[in-house]
Amino acid sequence: MNIFITTREGDTQTAALAAQGTLMEAIRDFGFDELMALCGGCCSCATCHVYSDDAFADKVPPIGEDEADMLGSSEHRRPNSRLSCQIVLSKALDGLRVTIAPED
Ligand code: FES
Repeated sequence: MNIFITTREGDTQTAALAAQGTLMEAIRDFGFDELMALCGGCCSCATCHVYSDDAFADKVPPIGEDEADMLGSSEHRRPNSRLSCQIVLSKALDGLRVTIAPED
């Protein structure tokens, strides 16, 4: 599967990867170290904040209560904000476009 990742500077790259693990892990493994992911995926830091393509709104897993709480503290929150560590990759997300959100 492919996902398209846009950095904070607007550079988009295609990541070809297996449909396993989380989106955060995929972004980090692909070499985007601007995604801090300080808590390692425990949904307690919000440093893995991304904007998810609206076209995939019905395909990404629904936002959880803890995730919504964490995002609520971000000044950069948008309607399509997600914590990438809370999105488990599946083939349904093939073609997903995400943009790494600014740092808070
Ligand atoms: Fe910390 Fe996602 S890595 S909330």
